[in-house]
Amino acid sequence: MKTVVLSLGGSILIPSLETNALASYAATLVRLADRFQVYVVVGGGGEARRYIGCARDLGVDEATLDELGILVTRLNARLLIAALGRAAYPRVPESYTDARVAGLSGRIVVMGGVTPGQTTDAVAAVLAEEIGADLLINATSVPGIFTADPKRDPAATRYETMTPAQLLDLVSRERMNAGSNTVIDLVAAKVVERSGCPMVVLEGHDASRIEEALMTGRFVGTIVAQEARSILPL
Ligand code: UTP
Repeated sequence: MKTVVLSLGGSILIPSLETNALASYAATLVRLADRFQVYVVVGGGGEARRYIGCARDLGVDEATLDELGILVTRLNARLLIAALGRAAYPRVPESYTDARVAGLSGRIVVMGGVTPGQTTDAVAAVLAEEIGADLLINATSVPGIFTADPKRDPAATRYETMTPAQLLDLVSRERMNAGSNTVIDLVAAKVVERSGCPMVVLEGHDASRIEEALMTGRFVGTIVAQEARSILPL
């Protein structure tokens, strides 16, 4: 059975507690788990930003803000586990080793952040490397990797494919603070480059797009791989 690690942006799964995609993602993930061993790394979303913003106003240092963000990602992971019911491993792993142990259950493993100075994209990239995943999917709020932020720059164009080295070059020019919003963080880009695990970046507001990409190979986004051909369908 092939293994997929899904980095599920909090801004996709749970932009806020009132507006969330937990039920539709849970239904999709349960279907995918019939065919793939699935690991999900959940982001912090709007609630993490609110906590971080509140603490930043108090003058708290960046590392402590990251710790707050991590706690919120783990809470979000716990919510997704609740939505998945018996299909999920019941605990949120707090380390990569614990995630591997959880994976031995054969159930869907859901985790959040691990350590300050990065985002859950980096967690997903390291996890994919450790378990030798066949594919890393990054479901985010923009449809792929662009030459510039498409929400701010109308002239930005999407890369259909790019090599890990090109991705690393692109994100090296960006700055990272707690709660920052770059498409992929630098640690993630570095790990993707060294591991050689192919990555697909796509817009994930609709969970069915991930299923469609995996099953049919049809998707709008970016493939990051040394050799992009024959990555999808998996
Ligand atoms: P996210 O991975 O959610 O970052 O972690 P994000 O860029 O806000 O992504 P979306 O909005 O969910 O898609 C939220 C915050 O938690 C901290 C960072 O401060 C990050 O910005 N964090 C998360 C860590 O410090 N380490 C981790 O391993 C994960």
